[in-house]
Formats: sequence, C-alpha cells, structure tokens
Amino acid sequence: MTAPTSPLPSVLLVGCGQMGGAMLEGWMAHGLKPSVVLDRHDRTLPAPHHLAATLEDVPADFQPDVIILAVKPQKADPTLEALARRFPNATLLSVMAGRTVQSLTDRYQHGNPQAQPVIIRAMPNTPCAIGAGMSGLYAPPHATDTQKAQCDALLHAVGETVWVEREELIDSVTAISGSGPAYIFLLAELLEKAGVEQGLPVETARTLARKTIYGAGALLNQSPAEAEELRRRVTSPGGTTAEALKIFMAPDAWPAIVPRAVAAAARRAKELST
Ligand SMILES: NC(=O)c1ccc[n+]([C@@H]2O[C@H](COP(=O)([O-])OP(=O)(O)OC[C@H]3O[C@@H](n4cnc5c(N)ncnc54)[C@H](OP(=O)(O)O)[C@@H]3O)[C@@H](O)[C@H]2O)c1
Repeated sequence: MTAPTSPLPSVLLVGCGQMGGAMLEGWMAHGLKPSVVLDRHDRTLPAPHHLAATLEDVPADFQPDVIILAVKPQKADPTLEALARRFPNATLLSVMAGRTVQSLTDRYQHGNPQAQPVIIRAMPNTPCAIGAGMSGLYAPPHATDTQKAQCDALLHAVGETVWVEREELIDSVTAISGSGPAYIFLLAELLEKAGVEQGLPVETARTLARKTIYGAGALLNQSPAEAEELRRRVTSPGGTTAEALKIFMAPDAWPAIVPRAVAAAARRAKELST
C-alpha cells in the first residue's frame, strides 16, 4: 500500500517476544516516534523509547498513535480490559492469531463499556526479523484511511504488506504466509537429510539446502517471470530435475498435498477464532 513514512507513528507495543521483538527492531531502524514497550521481561531500549513492566509504569502523558497487541491470544484479556480504561478510543493493531475484531472489541468494552476502539488485524511472519516479512492486514469498515496508513507503514517497515477485504481471509493469509516459513524450513530439513543420504557431509548438505532455498527465493523475488517459468528453465527434458519433478508432481504428491496442508492450516485458524 504505502511506503514507510518517516518517522513511523508512536506505538505502545504490548508484548515484545518473538513477533513483537522482530517488529520493534525493524521500526527502530526506520525511525520511530517516541514509543513505549510493555513487557514483563527486562530489555534495553534506546532513548527516547521507554520500557514499562506494567500499564501503570507507562508515562501518564503518553498517547500512542497505535497500540500493537503482540501477546499470546490466551494471555491478552486482562491487558485488553486495562488498556480500555486507559486508552478508550485507541487505534489497535492486533497481530494475534485467532482473535477476531469482534472478540477483541467485546473484551475491550468489557473493560470499559464507553470504549470505542478501532481494531485492525494483521498476520505477519517471522522473516519480519530481517526486514523480509510478509503481512496480510484487515481493517473493519469504520477504520479511517489514516489509521490504515499508520498500520500499513508499521508493517511495511519490516517487509511487504497486502490488505484483504474480508476478515475471514486473514485465516487464508495465516495458512500461506503466516505458517509458510515453517513449510520452507521443513523443505530445508528434508533436503539436508536427503543430501546426507546421498553421501554428503552434514555441513555440506546443510549449506547446499539452505543456500539453494535462499537463492531460489531471491530469484523469485527479483524475477518478473512466473514461478512455473522459472521451474521450466531448470528442467531440461529427460534431465535430472525432470526425474525429481516426476515424483514431486505426481497427482497424489505435491499438487494434492500442498492445497490439503494449506486448507488444514486455514481450518485450524478458523477453529481458533471461533
Ligand atoms: N511467532 C510467530 O511466528 C507469529 C507470527 C504471527 C503472529 N504471531 C502472534 O504474535 C503474538 C505473540 O507471539 P510471540 O510468539 O511473539 O509470543 P511471545 O514470544 O510469548 O511474546 C509475548 C511477550 O509478551 C509478554 N507478555 C505477555 N502478556 C503480558 C502482559 N500482560 N504484560 C507485559 N508483557 C506481557 C510475554 O511475557 P511472558 O513470557 O512472561 O508471558 C512475552 O515476552 C501471538 O498472538 C501470535 O499469534 C506470532
């Protein structure tokens, strides 16, 4: 959508673990307005940012542009209720899997019946840690363009963003790009093992597997050609790649397994949010 604005909006980052920490690193590299991180674990934050162990430690005059919800979904409720009392009309960006806008709004208003939050959802992935993330976002109809642009800028600072029109499509985003890095890591594991079975030393097999995935990913990212065309360019008729692809592309192999696995992930995402 938009390129990152500089500086990025001020945030109250609630939860600075795997995902929150990855995003925070990217934001600080892009210049973030003075912000507060709310996390129980000690960490060093450069000035002008501030660490708070509890909501009571957040400076009284601090009004974040966006509150980021990056705690485990099952741990979020008491914090949501407390946030609602302190920031009743906040813009919230939730990266929590399986919590719908409605369930988050209900919990917020349980904490403060007068609260009118605007809650935008995003599903980022762990490559955000190296600025190569992929996030899908959804905003309810009453979110303003400014609120959407602020959330987009934050996630754009750690990778690419796409917006989906309907909230249930966040489950599809989860199944492709949210969980997707794990599928690729599995391929790396299996290629490495297969290399060892072919007689290569473990370190050599590991380097070959990792760098091949990295190089193929970088080529996919840069090339305007379709993935199918890039695949054809490596596949000479009757050659070695063709032999392997006959097995991968058998009707009951990847063409069946990949959509089935993605559908299972999407189904689980849906179950978790209901
Ligand atoms: N990891 C991923 O690949 C990924 C991808 C997309 C989305 N997400 C979403 O991101 C969210 C966070 O996941 P994560 O893997 O980053 O979790 P995490 O590593 O456990 O990070 C959460 C952090 O927040 C802290 N925390 C929790 N409740 C708090 C509270 N009330 N006050 C202060 N600090 C609090 C936790 O401390 P304690 O350890 O003491 O609880 C922890 O340091 C989840 O909702 C997940 O669905 C994760």
